[in-house]
Amino acid sequence: MNVVTCIAPINIAVIKYWGKRDDDLILPVNDSISTTLDKDHLCTKTTAMASSDFKEDRMWLNGSEQSMDNPRLQNCLRELKKRAQISEEMQNWKLHICSENNFPTAAGLASSAAGYACLVTTIAKLYKVEGEVSELARVGSGSACRSMYGGFVRWFMGSDPKGSDSIAKPIVPVSHWPDMRILILVINDSQKKVSSAQGMKRTLMTSELIKYRIDKILPTKINQMQQAILNKDFESFAELTMKDSNQMHAVCLDTYPPCIYMNDTSHLIVDLIHSYNATSSKIKVAYTFDAGPNATLFLLEKDVPEFVSVLDHYFPSIENINIEYKKGIAIETILPSKNLLEKINFTKQTAGKLKYIIHTRIGNGPEQLSDCKSHLLNSQGLPVASLITNC
Ligand code: DP6
Repeated sequence: MNVVTCIAPINIAVIKYWGKRDDDLILPVNDSISTTLDKDHLCTKTTAMASSDFKEDRMWLNGSEQSMDNPRLQNCLRELKKRAQISEEMQNWKLHICSENNFPTAAGLASSAAGYACLVTTIAKLYKVEGEVSELARVGSGSACRSMYGGFVRWFMGSDPKGSDSIAKPIVPVSHWPDMRILILVINDSQKKVSSAQGMKRTLMTSELIKYRIDKILPTKINQMQQAILNKDFESFAELTMKDSNQMHAVCLDTYPPCIYMNDTSHLIVDLIHSYNATSSKIKVAYTFDAGPNATLFLLEKDVPEFVSVLDHYFPSIENINIEYKKGIAIETILPSKNLLEKINFTKQTAGKLKYIIHTRIGNGPEQLSDCKSHLLNSQGLPVASLITNC
């Protein structure tokens, strides 16, 4: 059967990629570091099928057919074909691709990263491509190269003008820091106004501060972050994560016209986390924001019940909503102590500022699904009726 199905994870950067030195090859202006999230809670699933019966290449994303006329997609397919280890006859067969996310697309939840990582993993298996493939995912979407590995991952910017050394490498596997937990606070899951690609281009063209970030800050910060991860030093990891997120959004604001991704609720979350950390004079929770308003929080497993009780107190959910408000790993319900609430300098918000919460952990890289029932295309190469809710 010329059909392969894979799943791939999203990743969240703790040292952000913001800016390209080559827009076509997607070569970044700095190294970045990310955490790969568990596919049980957030992932993309892709099926690719090649057949001599197909008349044209076709692709479906989340149930609707997409144009194949997309330069990034075409770059990926061209690079995959160059490295294919299959007969010339099969290389000429047309492809059908069907992909689904179990989370909102383009809401600042790294959907393009999981999407391209999954597409490249799936077609690389179909075409029997061997060796390093993170550079193939990179030409689809920069951050996608980091989703090709599990655990904590570093994307090296490289120096080759053709990008052969701009690849991702794992720093440590999932098993290194098993009690690290992630909370994604979904504030808004509608599509963002300025894409990351447009935003970072505008930043490089107009911001003075980005130069300082690239030349003076990041070369030291990236190594400090790698060391904090290797040492499992949560407080250093957390402080570096928050400062890097703030700096990325500062250069976005220094962009002209400015790119504004965080909203009022995002800033309230930042404020709550600093107020909460101040109560124990210890950093227990860190935040980071990508090109959207949603917050990704890092904390240790032992601190999850207390922090979530504080979050529930200050950001109450709407009662009787018919969606699952807390998704992912179950969270023990406790009430925050009166003493703790008295120490937190924060005002209770109106209900419904957070749409839902996903509680997850660090996870592994992409994987192939061997069960033929997992294919998203039927034997005619058309999407099967069901929509996945879980990968
Ligand atoms: C803010 O990888 O989406 O999430 O390479 O243009 O596809 P393109 O951009 P993309 O940018 C991600 C930017 C970020 C930070 C990060 O993930 O490092």
